[in-house]
Amino acid sequence: MKIKNICCLGAGYVGGPTMSVIALKCPEIKVTVVDLNEARIAAWNDSNLENLPVYEPGLAEVVEEARGRNLFFSTDVDKAIEEAEMIFIAVNTPTKTYGEGKGMAADLKFVELCARQIARIAKNDKIIVEKSTLPVRTAKTLQTILDHTGNGVNFEVLSNPEFLAEGTAIEDLLNADRVLIGGQQTKSGKNAIQALVDIYAHWLSPKQILTTNVWSSELSKLTANAFLAQRISSINALSALCEATEADVDEVASAIGTDSRIGSKFLKSSVGFGGSCFQKDILNLVYLCRYFNLPEVANYWEQVIILNDYQKYRFAKNIITSLFNTVSGKKIAFLGWAFKKDTNDTRESPAIYVAEHLIEDGAEIHIYDPKVSANQIKADMRYLFELKGLNEVKIEAKLNQIHAYDSYTDAVNQAHAIAILTEWDEFKDYNWEAIYYSMYKPAFIFDGRNILNIEKLTAIGFQIKGIGKGL
Ligand code: NAD
Ligand code: UGA
Repeated sequence: MKIKNICCLGAGYVGGPTMSVIALKCPEIKVTVVDLNEARIAAWNDSNLENLPVYEPGLAEVVEEARGRNLFFSTDVDKAIEEAEMIFIAVNTPTKTYGEGKGMAADLKFVELCARQIARIAKNDKIIVEKSTLPVRTAKTLQTILDHTGNGVNFEVLSNPEFLAEGTAIEDLLNADRVLIGGQQTKSGKNAIQALVDIYAHWLSPKQILTTNVWSSELSKLTANAFLAQRISSINALSALCEATEADVDEVASAIGTDSRIGSKFLKSSVGFGGSCFQKDILNLVYLCRYFNLPEVANYWEQVIILNDYQKYRFAKNIITSLFNTVSGKKIAFLGWAFKKDTNDTRESPAIYVAEHLIEDGAEIHIYDPKVSANQIKADMRYLFELKGLNEVKIEAKLNQIHAYDSYTDAVNQAHAIAILTEWDEFKDYNWEAIYYSMYKPAFIFDGRNILNIEKLTAIGFQIKGIGKGL
């Protein structure tokens, strides 16, 4: 079966870039990305490509080429569903904040709503593709909802999890290590798998396209993220030991990583991992293990999260201790707010939690990030305070301790300390002499990403502390 018309529900960090690349590489296929969020769709359609809702290197160029040719962004969900032969579901699947499984399980209400809407609208057979990250066995839930339409339409549900990382999404999509497609091992299931293989085969080689049963595919996505995050927590655990023993975590990481069985990637010690997926997906895995009565397995994976929380807290505590045991009334400048460089995404950014600890001790936080707005920063902190059940008066008081700027010089001026929270390249090239003279002395730097040159900055006069660096 040759697919001519695709739609994708969800125009976020996954739906937008993924569909843009499919449209770029498959010009004969019409790709429509739909979302309930009108502002987001308007931003995807904005003639000024600087205003796209997702910042990713290379994305604007792809959108520029394909948009209006065979790539469309729309809020008309029903029409897109009706026309499409293949429907991707790329909606958000956050951790539940209420009821059964609160704080652990994935909230599947948006996915379920998509399935119900497809079931209501569809008039001919369709292939449904799970692009969102979902707990293993979700395909069964979707199939159950879809099979009860009573209008004789057949649905084949495939799992095709996304492995792109933000900041490198376009590169990851164009040169994927692998694409994973899981489906039922029936005749129609295999046909559906082949239809999706044919799409990726436009630009990937057959050995990069793996096909499995649907449950292996769903579970591989959650566990791939758990393995990646586990490496960061492992090296971050060692960073604490390095600080106590004068070992250097970067030296330890490269010594470990040159063993080809271990590998060098994802061993960069940091203030902790952030992003919308690692924590959510591991919590989801832990919840699933408890559900299947495997407490030892659940506890094993949960420790990855516990260590990550410890790392963020340890960083904040180190700032307080170094600043003579209090940051009350002191100005702490944050360079970076996004959860990693080259993205405007701030979900679960370690900066949010470091700020929370410092605000609790009375600090004034002055923030600069090249791609994150003041409104977003305030919204992130408000969301956290609301989740913690703070009343409006307390929330407003705490938000008044946060200030965001459009220029780094304003953020660092007259600061007692600078904390690097994101590894943006531009931070390395700042005029650090000028920064030093604009700050209170002793002028501290806490490099949560180990990107600055300690010797050079020490020579200027800074007191600088990296992660996992002996002194
Ligand atoms: P996102 O929040 O950026 O985007 C989701 C979009 O879906 C939102 O714009 C929302 O308005 C829309 N939406 C919700 N319900 C809808 C509905 N019924 N119909 C139409 N649109 C609807 O989320 P994201 O970061 O793109 O993640 C989406 C999924 O992909 C998640 O399951 C996530 O775990 C997974 N994932 C994310 C990444 C990543 O790097 N962000 C990578 C791999 C996988
Ligand atoms: C991650 C995975 O890398 C993707 O494969 C996956 O598709 C995605 O999650 C997902 O499911 O959403 P992402 O969260 O976008 O991608 O970004 P990463 O590059 O993995 O970084 C996650 C966090 O770990 C960042 O805060 C980053 O700074 C931190 N990190 C990463 C480290 O602290 N050290 C490292 O060595 C690597």
